[in-house]
Amino acid sequence: MGESRVAIVTGAARGIGAATAQRLAKDGHAVAVLDLDESSCADTVTRITKDGGHALAVGADVSDADAVNAAVERIAEVLGPPTILVNNAGVTRDNLLFRMTEADWDTVMGVHLRGSFLMTRAAQKHMVAAKWGRIVNLSSTSALGNRGQANYSTAKAGLQGFTRTLSVELGQFGITANAIAPGFIATEMTRATAERVGVSWEDFQQGAAAQIPVRRVGQPEDIANTVSFLTSEESGFVSGQVIYVSGGPGRR
Ligand SMILES: NC(=O)c1ccc[n+]([C@@H]2O[C@H](COP(=O)([O-])OP(=O)(O)OC[C@H]3O[C@@H](n4cnc5c(N)ncnc54)[C@H](O)[C@@H]3O)[C@@H](O)[C@H]2O)c1
Repeated sequence: MGESRVAIVTGAARGIGAATAQRLAKDGHAVAVLDLDESSCADTVTRITKDGGHALAVGADVSDADAVNAAVERIAEVLGPPTILVNNAGVTRDNLLFRMTEADWDTVMGVHLRGSFLMTRAAQKHMVAAKWGRIVNLSSTSALGNRGQANYSTAKAGLQGFTRTLSVELGQFGITANAIAPGFIATEMTRATAERVGVSWEDFQQGAAAQIPVRRVGQPEDIANTVSFLTSEESGFVSGQVIYVSGGPGRR
């Protein structure tokens, strides 16, 4: 096991974020489990604590600058300076372009792009001071283009540019920044998509699996495993990369 650090995982009440928070705790880090409501983080925190890990529930909307700054300062005071950040919080507001509202667009940009910007700006000063840091941003195969997701695919492609620029600006301080672009992962997000298009969850997963080279859908742990590597000591020469974790080369 590597050195113990303080990690922040946004959107960690459930899904990929919850699995990632649990994995980073197993890796020996103290983990701030951040989501919209502090109370929604209780399950993830309990699971980590039961496994002998150390976690703190933090409520904050990542698109709200004041809330983000207050949250990161509280984390630094309670757990210590955060030097690992996983920008995972996300939402979808899918619609074909001609039906997409300004609110659909702004909400998705606000959480993914503004949220990752605000969290990273607040956390990087602790990483710079420590001369060590690991930033992982959650992109998506949708960055390559996906019907009904003009807002989401734009945000996820934007996060790839954000990641590359972070790696360029922060590398000299011992900080790496990488993006993970998941394909189909079985979570509440994809379950909601199945519901929206009127397909049963089982059929939806089977249909997706048939299109994926490894013939299965992804699980949150598939992403958590990749985050674990990208936040480890050993990954220090990997930066500015986008890793597609999608059971194949890119498209799911
Ligand atoms: N599930 C997939 O197939 C898939 C594929 C590619 C990328 N992703 C990305 O992975 C990340 C996690 O997805 P998931 O499937 O676990 O989703 P999910 O909907 O299960 O969980 C997302 C979490 O983010 C939180 N969140 C939303 N807005 C927030 C805000 N403003 N501030 C703080 N927290 C907020 C939610 O409350 C929720 O707990 C997202 O960025 C998503 O876009 C998911």
